[in-house]
Formats: sequence, C-alpha cells, structure tokens
Amino acid sequence: MSAAGPRENDNPPEEATVRSSAASSFEAVKVTDQVYWVGAIDWGVRDFHGYATDRGSTYNAYLILADKITLIDTVKAPFAGELLSRIASVVDPAKVDYVISNHAEMDHSGALREVLEALNPEKVFASAMGVKALEEHFHLDGHVTGVADGETLSLGSAGLTFVEARMLHWPDSMMTYLAEERLLFSNDAFGMHLASSERFDDELQQWLLEEEAARYFANILLPFSPLIAKLLEKVAGLGIDIDMIATSHGPIWRKGGDRIASLYATWASGERGDTAVVVFDTMWQSTAKMARAIGEGLTAGGARVKLMPLRAAHRSDVAVELLDAGALLVGSPTLNNNMFPTVADVLTYVKGLRPRGLIGAAFGSYGWGGQAVGQIEDILRDMKVDLAADGLKTKYVPDAAALRECRDLGVKIAGKLKGMVKV
Ligand code: FEO
Repeated sequence: MSAAGPRENDNPPEEATVRSSAASSFEAVKVTDQVYWVGAIDWGVRDFHGYATDRGSTYNAYLILADKITLIDTVKAPFAGELLSRIASVVDPAKVDYVISNHAEMDHSGALREVLEALNPEKVFASAMGVKALEEHFHLDGHVTGVADGETLSLGSAGLTFVEARMLHWPDSMMTYLAEERLLFSNDAFGMHLASSERFDDELQQWLLEEEAARYFANILLPFSPLIAKLLEKVAGLGIDIDMIATSHGPIWRKGGDRIASLYATWASGERGDTAVVVFDTMWQSTAKMARAIGEGLTAGGARVKLMPLRAAHRSDVAVELLDAGALLVGSPTLNNNMFPTVADVLTYVKGLRPRGLIGAAFGSYGWGGQAVGQIEDILRDMKVDLAADGLKTKYVPDAAALRECRDLGVKIAGKLKGMVKV
C-alpha cells in the first residue's frame, strides 16, 4: 500500500459536486444529499461460511461527501474495481480523505488493500480491535488509526460518532453515526443477504425483508443474542435520532428502521413458541417413518410441526426454524457406529449458533450397534437442550408398536411444549 499521510484537500466539498458518470461503468446511488452507496451486488453468491445465501447478497460501502470525503467500508475483493468505479461516478477517487473500516471480515475488507492503493487516503480508521484484525489480515504496517467507543471524528461540514458493537459480528465490529443525516452505518447489524437492484427497504416487499432478515439473524447473529439486546439498549441510551440505517448487506432501512429494531429485540429475547422441529436423515426409510409418526403425535398433542428431512433442508433452513421453535427432535440411523454425516453436519452447525431454551429428544433406527441416538443426545446436552424424553431406537424397520411409541413421544413433547409457551 502507498504510505498514507496528510495531504492537502484541494477539492472542498462545495466543489466536490457530482462528476459526470460518463466514464464510470458503475454508478453510485444517492442515499441522502451527502451520502452515496458505492457498494457491490453479488447476484451469484450461494454460500456465506456455511450459510446458504439463496438470494445472493450485497456488500454495501458508502461515500460521505463532507469537507473530508470519507469512505465507509469496502467490498469483497473481486468487486474492488466496481467500488472504485462507483466512487469515480461522483468524485475523483484521489479526493477521498478518510476510509473507515467498521468490520474486518473479508466481505467488507477484502478490497481494502486495492482500494487504499487506489485512493491513497490521509487516514484509515477502525476500532481498536479492528486495527489489530486488519493488521493481521493485510499487514498494513501500522497505517490504521484506532478509534474508541463514543469517539467523534470531524469531517469539517459533518461529524461522525463511533459506536462499538463487539461480536456483531466479530470482536472488532463497530457502527458509525452521521449526525447531520441522522444516519447509522450499522455494518452487519440489521442486514440480510439479498441481492436486488433496489437499494431501499421501501422498494421491496415486507415479507421478503422479514424473511431474509430473520434468516440472517438466525445464521449469523443468534449466538450473540444477549449482546444484541444490550446493544439495542445502548443505542437507545445514546439519545440520537436515527432516520436511516445503512447496513452492509441488503437494502438500506429508509422507512423500516423501527420495525427491524423491534424484530431484533424479539429475536434476541430467545422467546420460544409451540413449534417442534424434527430434523432427520434416513438410510432405508425407517428413521423417516419414525419421524413422520413423531410428527403425527406432535400434531395430535397440539404442537405446530416442521419436519425437515436433510435431503431437502439445508442446515441454514434448520437454523431459521430454531429462531423461535420450542423443541428440536433429531433422528438418525446408525452408519458404521456413527450418526449419519448429514445429521452430524447440522448438529455441528446449530450447536455453534447456541439456541437457548429448547427442549428435545433423539430417535433413529439401527441394525446392530445403535450408537447414533446416544451420540445425538450427547450433543443436545452440550447444547443445553432439555431432553424431554428418553431417546427412541427401532431395530431395522419400525412395526406398528414402534410407530405407536414414536407417536406417543410426539404427544409427550407437545404436552411439554404447551407447558412452556406463554399465552
Ligand atoms: Fe458481513 Fe461479519 O461480515
């Protein structure tokens, strides 16, 4: 990277008016009078560290045209040229004074080195943890300046306040507030993986926003629910007005900021409902038959039921259901003395997401060893799932009596769920 040092700003903002975009293949999108979206739309991405992003994503970066022209975040590495082109559509990239990295994960910082080489900004800012993380990723030779929680930065005609948001989604994460526009650059918080040509929430359908925001929360932020509840309190306690939330993924909340904050409060509360999620795989349909009989019992007992055969459901789909389900039942045949690989996959994934307050049970068919059910129970105990019934095993193929036991298990779990759910 080029050495970043003080340099004269010969392009004051009143003159830094929007340039002709004739030379730019990619154009910035105006967010407010002085803020532009200069990010990238990734229509094809289908995996975000194990989370299936079926609708693609965006990596949002923003340009503030204040006295000190400031770039908030960058994009994933392959989109560096696109970001630079969008900046060039509104201002000479050489005029950018500051770069702020709200989060060091590669989807926001992957293009950082290339962007810094192209812009040669006066300063690069990150949280104290961000300075360390960026150095460890990109070896920037100490060119990043740390900012503290609550610290302010004058851009001349505007001012920024930094708000630490540790573990949302990494230890370095922070948000940046632009008072003049009442705009919060929230980075990962309040985002979603959704590629769209629309940049604002009010241009998209509400069901789609809520579905993808829930999927994002369940797959990315669920482990940090207690911290989210505290962060929401902290932001409310700052006494700042927020008209817009400019996240780093998906649309900008221009109208629905209050709604997404309220949804976050609900999801972070860990409140559980009366749905039982039955996750299973099967070799010769025996465990599948058990799952269906358990499902019948759950329904008969008054629970809502979601059967999730792992040949049809992705681990990310299971995570979404666990956002507010009350019970998790897991079934697997025993294969070579172990649970089925797909079941191990989903349990490893959801264990990491640390859903709280679930009840559960294990079940499965076997031929001789039958270890899978016990292995599942061990993992459920590690997850602090309250095992509401003994694990159920069936040798080879369940007969009518075995299926009746499965149904009875479902009824029993439904009864316990009813006792848990607030009315
Ligand atoms: Fe969007 Fe934690 O990165």
